[in-house]
Parts: sequence; C-alpha cells; structure tokens
Amino acid sequence: MSALFEEEVLKVRHWTDRLFSFTTTRSPSFRYENGQFTMIGLPVNGKPLLRAYSLVSPNYAEQLEFLSIKVQEGPLTSKLQHLKVGDKVLVGKKATGTLLIDNLLPGRNLFLLGTGTGLAPFLSIAKDPAAYERFDKIVLVHGCRFANELAYADEIENSLPNDELLGEEIRAKLLYYPTITREPFRNGGRITAALASNKLTDTLGLAPLEATQDRVMVCGSPAFLSDITELLRARSFIEGSSNEPGSYVIEKAFVER
Ligand code: A2P
Repeated sequence: MSALFEEEVLKVRHWTDRLFSFTTTRSPSFRYENGQFTMIGLPVNGKPLLRAYSLVSPNYAEQLEFLSIKVQEGPLTSKLQHLKVGDKVLVGKKATGTLLIDNLLPGRNLFLLGTGTGLAPFLSIAKDPAAYERFDKIVLVHGCRFANELAYADEIENSLPNDELLGEEIRAKLLYYPTITREPFRNGGRITAALASNKLTDTLGLAPLEATQDRVMVCGSPAFLSDITELLRARSFIEGSSNEPGSYVIEKAFVER
C-alpha cells in the first residue's frame, strides 16, 4: 500500500510574492489531529519530492488546506507555487507533530505563537472545539515582517466569529494579536518583546503570562524558537510531550531554504 494519497487542487490563493496557500480534496481515510503536519509534495523525475507541511484545515474539514512560502530556487516550492486548480499533489497518509492540546496540562489561557508560516498549525487549533472546552481564552499571535504577510487575518477577524459550529465560542474566547516588525502597524515589534514587556497581555486585557496557569504553543523559525524557549524557561514553563504534558510545546515551521 502506498504511503501517499493523491489529492486534487481545488483552490489556490496567493497572499504575496513570497506566500501562498492551497486547498485540496481529502481522502476520507486520512485522519489527523489539529496542530499536526504531514508530508506533501509532487512527483519529480518519477520520484515523490516531499516536505513537511502543517494542516491549516481542522481535522473535521472536508478539504485539506496548506500554507507555503515560495522559494525561487527551492526544490519543491519553486514548483508548488505554480499549482493550478485541477493539478494533483501527493499527501502523506501519516500525520504527526507535537503541537497537540493533549501535550499540555489543563490551564487558563492558551497562547498560540507563530511567526511567518508558523501560523498554519494554529489555524486548525483555533477551529478545534476541544480548545474552547479546555481554555478560557485562545490567544492567536502572528508575527510577520510586513502587514500583507498576515495570511488569513480577514478570515480570523471576520469569518471565524460567524462560524456555524464554533462562532459563539470564538466570539467569547478567541483573541487575535497580529504584530508587524518592519513597517508601522497597530501592534509593532517581535512576539518575544511583546511577551517580555507584557505588552501583548496588557493590550488584550489579560493577566501576564504565567506558567502555573497559562499554556503556550510555539511554531516559527529556529531563531524565534530558541529565543521564545529561553523566555518561557526563565518564566518556569516546562516543555510538554505525549508522555508527559507540560506548560508549552514547540515545533519549527517547515520552511524550505
Ligand atoms: P524581524 O523583522 O525583526 O526579523 P521571518 O520572515 O524572518 O521568518 O520573520 C517572521 C517574523 O518573525 C518577523 O516579524 C521577524 O522579525 C520575527 N522574528 C525573526 N526572528 C525572531 C526571533 N529570534 N525572535 C522573535 N521574532 C523573530
């Protein structure tokens, strides 16, 4: 049995000249948890060329959605960025990953901290009914260089609150904090700085981040992960896993260099 599904592209959305997303069919037997990633790719010279991609779509969705950067010399994304409706993509049958709410202890507020395409896994978590059952607030934080890189901002701000299934929970509990580092914006500066100064929690009217109460998921570049891990450890946060849930979990955003 092949380890890959072949899915059909249903929609492609170009956010910027460096960022795009696409939707595909979903084989009914494909199962995953919100926050997980799987391998996706294209056949190149007769062999599958695959990279890890987080699932943007929640695990109950009928279609799959992925967010990707475009790298002109990237072995996969140089090709993937030209996807058109009707094209086929390969999707790994086995999803995996550490960004699971089951890897976290129960808590007060859940902070989802993503830079760049590190936002992707948090979109499926922001649509997970279990997240709203377990936490008082879900704080979705997205850090980018420029405002046009805030993918899905309109959906987060305008569609999610009217979601058929979760709209009421989302209106009551989901807080969105986009922050931009390289041009003026209503929230400016890096996520790490906004947390260190408590600006992020102050702006949202929340108590400062605190390890006994709050839970954190992190996804982004290696430099971001390293700095945020240092900040969280200094505040007594402990990394969780499937064996031992903790107060935070991290995963690197799967960026093709
Ligand atoms: P900055 O513009 O100050 O580098 P990238 O596109 O390089 O992955 O960056 C996405 C966002 O993550 C940018 O806003 C960037 O800020 C920020 N960023 C990069 N490195 C770090 C880091 N070590 N800690 C916090 N934020 C970071």
